[in-house]
Amino acid sequence: METLYWKDNKLYLLDQTLIPMEVQYVECLTYKDVIDAIQTMKVRGAPAIGVAAAYAMALAENEGIDLDVAAREIKSSRPTAVNLFWAVDQVLKSVDDGNSAIETANLMAINDIRTNEKIGAYGNTVIDDGDTILTHCNAGSLACAGYGTALGVIRSAVANGKDVDVVCDETRPLLQGARLSVFEMQQENIPVRLIVDSAAGHMMQKGEIDKVVIGADRVAQGGVANKIGSLMVALAAKRYDVPFYVAAPMSTFDVDNNIFDVTIEERQKEEVLKFNGKNIASDETVVENPAFDIVESDLITGIITEEGIKKPL
Ligand code: MRU
Repeated sequence: METLYWKDNKLYLLDQTLIPMEVQYVECLTYKDVIDAIQTMKVRGAPAIGVAAAYAMALAENEGIDLDVAAREIKSSRPTAVNLFWAVDQVLKSVDDGNSAIETANLMAINDIRTNEKIGAYGNTVIDDGDTILTHCNAGSLACAGYGTALGVIRSAVANGKDVDVVCDETRPLLQGARLSVFEMQQENIPVRLIVDSAAGHMMQKGEIDKVVIGADRVAQGGVANKIGSLMVALAAKRYDVPFYVAAPMSTFDVDNNIFDVTIEERQKEEVLKFNGKNIASDETVVENPAFDIVESDLITGIITEEGIKKPL
């Protein structure tokens, strides 16, 4: 199942708000349609947002919009994943060099899959036969053009003949773990168990988790930003000596900035107030809804990239 594809000058995005109940693609005719899809999380996950943003630039090119104007708008769609900014800048540079935005976007989509396969190959070296691996949110093929980063590591280990069990945190409030990661693993018959977020520490305390592998929205000086809840998993992993890996492409690295200077997206209160469309607290309730948190470098065993396994910055 493709996360996104380009056909007849239109971008098609798998609507990730509907998975696993419905498989439906949204048609994007304009760059503003892509911005809307990014903001409403129809497409999500750092590398997928980056590739979608590159295609948004291609749509803007076809619409005859000034690419610098489109770039500014596209970049303001979500603040935390650096891949979005990286991808838009790559397109601007490539267009300056005489290429078209669409050529650049197509190449980026292909390269993303190749990169993830390399991440998977390096990641396989730290996975042992029989491991139970806990993951948070969805850093799978749905979060990328294909294959996935954290779930790519698991796919690679399975392809190399290792028996692995996967444990997915449900990942409140939007349940990317339950809806997307569990779905991806089930599609490939990889053994998977779903837990509520607060069960992760308990399972590590009982010695049931051998490794944690998560994705990243940004790797910067001092740590990594990833889906809210990653920090609590990392703290529990440190306490119970469970190796904690981050799998991310180099396009997620932001070496010039400190991770604590990165904007952590605050999303709408409705995401927390409602569960499955029903209110779980009154509409007047004051809500905090940070979408990401920061895992400090000393909690991270290694960052699995397409260039090898690196120390955190
Ligand atoms: O809010 P989301 O669903 O875009 O957040 C996604 C994550 O936090 C992923 O772990 C991260 O983007 C890495 S995806 C390979």
